[in-house]
Amino acid sequence: MSESVRVMLTEEEVNRRIAELGAEISMEFEGEPVHLICILKGSVFFTCELAKRITVPVTMDFMTVSSYGSGTTSSGNVKIKKDLDEDIAGKNVVVIEDIIDTGRTLECLLGILKERNPKNLKLCTLLDKPDRRIADVSVDYTGFVVPDEFVVGYGLDYDQRYRNLPYVGVLDLG
Ligand code: IMP
Ligand code: MG
Repeated sequence: MSESVRVMLTEEEVNRRIAELGAEISMEFEGEPVHLICILKGSVFFTCELAKRITVPVTMDFMTVSSYGSGTTSSGNVKIKKDLDEDIAGKNVVVIEDIIDTGRTLECLLGILKERNPKNLKLCTLLDKPDRRIADVSVDYTGFVVPDEFVVGYGLDYDQRYRNLPYVGVLDLG
């Protein structure tokens, strides 16, 4: 039994698309600052690359959430393990996710953040796996729509490994 990773999106493809998303966000918030919320750990690579491509003033904060459940699906019961350092009231908030699968994590998290009264609350995800959607979350900025396969790299992990791959690949457990 040997694990292997097949390239789905090359580093160049991912970075090119992130530059487009950065331009889109910059245009939409023209003249106003944006506050990026990076959902640790998976979104860290995406957030950094995206932040560099945004031309309006950017501030950043980080949050760690865990959804109870085992294996490769989430239960939708979100627990905040590390909360934001700053208040988001009145800010143009963009939540940055690595991948939206069932959508349960995000649905729950967005509900929590909405109660803190941001001026705007947008959602940006590098990858979207709509085939597995259960919760009704509306995504404002999507990098790539991907088929129902387990992907790793560019921040995404399998048992905490593979996050550092510079591309997005499909994990084959052999
Ligand atoms: P959701 O609540 O089902 O949308 O779960 C989203 C979270 O599950 C993501 O932030 C990832 O941490 C994880 N996840 C879902 N699909 C994948 C995948 O294909 N590869 C790696 N992690 C995944
Ligand atoms: Mg994860």
